[in-house]
Amino acid sequence: MVLLDGKKTALELREKLKLEVQNRPEGVSAPHLAAILVGNNGASETYVASKVKSCEAAGIRSTLIRMDAGVSESDLLQEIDKLNKDADVDGILVQLPLPRHIDELKVTMAVNPAKDVDGFHPENIGRLTLGMDTFVPATPFGIMLLLEAYGIKTSGMHAVVVGRSAIVGTPMSLLLSRNSEPGNCTVTITHSRTKNLMSLTKQADLIVAALGKPGFLTADMVKEGAIVIDVGITRVEDNNSEKGYRISGDVDFKHVAPICSYITPVPGGVGAMTIAALLTNTVTAWRRRRF
Ligand code: GUN
Repeated sequence: MVLLDGKKTALELREKLKLEVQNRPEGVSAPHLAAILVGNNGASETYVASKVKSCEAAGIRSTLIRMDAGVSESDLLQEIDKLNKDADVDGILVQLPLPRHIDELKVTMAVNPAKDVDGFHPENIGRLTLGMDTFVPATPFGIMLLLEAYGIKTSGMHAVVVGRSAIVGTPMSLLLSRNSEPGNCTVTITHSRTKNLMSLTKQADLIVAALGKPGFLTADMVKEGAIVIDVGITRVEDNNSEKGYRISGDVDFKHVAPICSYITPVPGGVGAMTIAALLTNTVTAWRRRRF
């Protein structure tokens, strides 16, 4: 079994980005990411802090805009409009989830597609569907970069994606089915209404578990030698931990790892790659806008 080390791979990617930013022509400013955080959801606070810190390490400028949980939808849209018009901002991200009184789709659609480094705007999702150049959502993009970094050839594999979310499962299934390497998989996308899920995961050469249920994928659901990618990052109560919780993946790692060919750990797997992919998108937006 080989552990797919997202932390190490992400660090290597970030070093490359740092060099590209450092070697920019004279007179060109460093890339600039603006992140909007609404409210004070603990997990979102952690993710955004991690994104901002990683930007700094790669020489990317970042601005964190905090808005009160009670902010009106129109004030949030106005802030996005300001960032759209700001020539010194290359990338914009609005951390999800948003409070219930705000329409996430409306917010997603308000971001200028050329600055949409999360790749959530319908224009960018449409471009992804058509195989055009776009911003690929960070988590599936990070997974593709990880498979590529380990030289894993997926052509002809049966991939089973567990979870159909708009930001992970759905774009993941598109990327894996593309005529590319990695890619060229026969993809099955499964969800809460799928019948006999185990009969499908048992056939899979590659499984992406992205449903947000700790320890969901157990050893009896996995074929010997399969590749297992764990997207889960759920906080579960743990009184032995200083923080009172630990991060759990969607895979029962202890029992699944021994039967896999490759597996991602949690933490240190997909999460680290997600941030590296976001920074890659930010540098791409900057290159397109400023050169
Ligand atoms: N919430 C969970 N994942 C993401 C992500 O990739 N981007 C944003 N903006 N919010 C998220």
